[in-house]
Amino acid sequence: MAEKRSLWGSKIGFLLAAIGSAVGLGNIWRFSYMAYENGGGAFLIPYLVALLCAGVPLMILEYSLGHREKASPPLAFARINPLWEPLGWWMPVVAFFGINLFYAAVIGWCINYFGLSLTLGWGTDTQSFFFGEFLQLSDSPFTLGGIRWPVLAATAGAWAICWTICYREVSRGIEKASMIFMPLLVILTLILVGWSLRLDGAREAIREFYLKADLSKIALNTAEGRKVWVAAFGQIFFTLSLGFGIMITYASYLPKKTDITGNALTTCILNCLYSIIAGFAVFGTIGFMANAKGVPFDEAITSGPGLAFVVYPEAINQLPILNQLFGALFFLVLIVAGISSMISLTEAFSCSICDKFVISRQKATTIICSLGLIGSIPFTTRAGLLILDIADHFINNYALIIGGILECILIGWLLKSQVMRRHVNNSGGIRLWPVWDICIRVITPAVLLIMLVGALLEDFT
Ligand code: PHE
Ligand code: NA
Repeated sequence: MAEKRSLWGSKIGFLLAAIGSAVGLGNIWRFSYMAYENGGGAFLIPYLVALLCAGVPLMILEYSLGHREKASPPLAFARINPLWEPLGWWMPVVAFFGINLFYAAVIGWCINYFGLSLTLGWGTDTQSFFFGEFLQLSDSPFTLGGIRWPVLAATAGAWAICWTICYREVSRGIEKASMIFMPLLVILTLILVGWSLRLDGAREAIREFYLKADLSKIALNTAEGRKVWVAAFGQIFFTLSLGFGIMITYASYLPKKTDITGNALTTCILNCLYSIIAGFAVFGTIGFMANAKGVPFDEAITSGPGLAFVVYPEAINQLPILNQLFGALFFLVLIVAGISSMISLTEAFSCSICDKFVISRQKATTIICSLGLIGSIPFTTRAGLLILDIADHFINNYALIIGGILECILIGWLLKSQVMRRHVNNSGGIRLWPVWDICIRVITPAVLLIMLVGALLEDFT
């Protein structure tokens, strides 16, 4: 607390860091299997509804809260109402233990697969390679069955990179890394998308399975349809890094004059655009593979987290030329996107600790990254993927939604959303409309509550 608060060196630095947090494994790996499992193009409808009724209003809320209080979530909450400090801890703690630990392990998989792609080391049967040889998946989440050393080694590597970046002052660490990572990510992704679209069978698959909307899949009067809506809201929170206190933390380093509304809109739009564009690469590549093997698309795709690690390698095998390069490009995209999100998860926790205790950022980062590495170990065991599925489900269907509802009550009702809106408008930039008040006080929390109840009914009836 004693030290002066860090500041971003430039406006674009903040924006790139925030987008770096938002654009991550979720946009490529998670979005594509979500879209596939939940009705293809039809998924885009609940996804966009969730973006408008929860994503954008909450992004503005998190930016404005961090900016106004100049504090990480626990301290920012406490400044509005001291009784709320423990609730402020909920977010960075959930972000760290619920997401960062497994996120690091998935980046670890990507690092391994980056190496494997150079020799196509996954062989011809990529399914049994991933689950068998690589993960050596055990039969239950309670049977850890030993550590997968290559995974642990790569996961440790991810933590080391994260530590190197977060250790430095914000403007020289996270900001600088984002200024390099984000342009790199855009270039690599565009090459990947362009390449994928030129593959035989790609366009047909995109039209049939990605763009065509099967509206019966999202009907609200079926249990299946409701599940899709819950999934879409979960995905919006996850993809925008909302409800974890990350955007609060990043915004706490902003200067006084800041276009909060404009930055929030830019972050939301670019993140979702990235997902949709990356979806073209994913569906196109899988379509190519289905075409090359002469199997129906539905049989070519595997649902769930295995998609990037089973279906992609298989598609890479089928490419007529430059397979290794295509593979390396794909996994490099995942690694770069992943690391820039991982640093934001780490920063939110370390900033919360620095705001509360007298401890230097260097010390806090070192402790947290060591703790993170240890905490990631269960995800690098043979049960890792199974534990990940459980963590992912509870975080996305419950923890985040609870975080979102809490923020809405705190700002909408305890502080009063008008006060916050005035703050946003006094800080300059695009004016925030009064409709935001209605969103934060009524619409967003109501929708989130319905999602929460829906998830509870889904799991416990
Ligand atoms: N938004 C990131 C993604 O889409 C994941 C993430 C979630 C990052 C929460 C930070 C916090 O992959
Ligand atoms: Na994202």
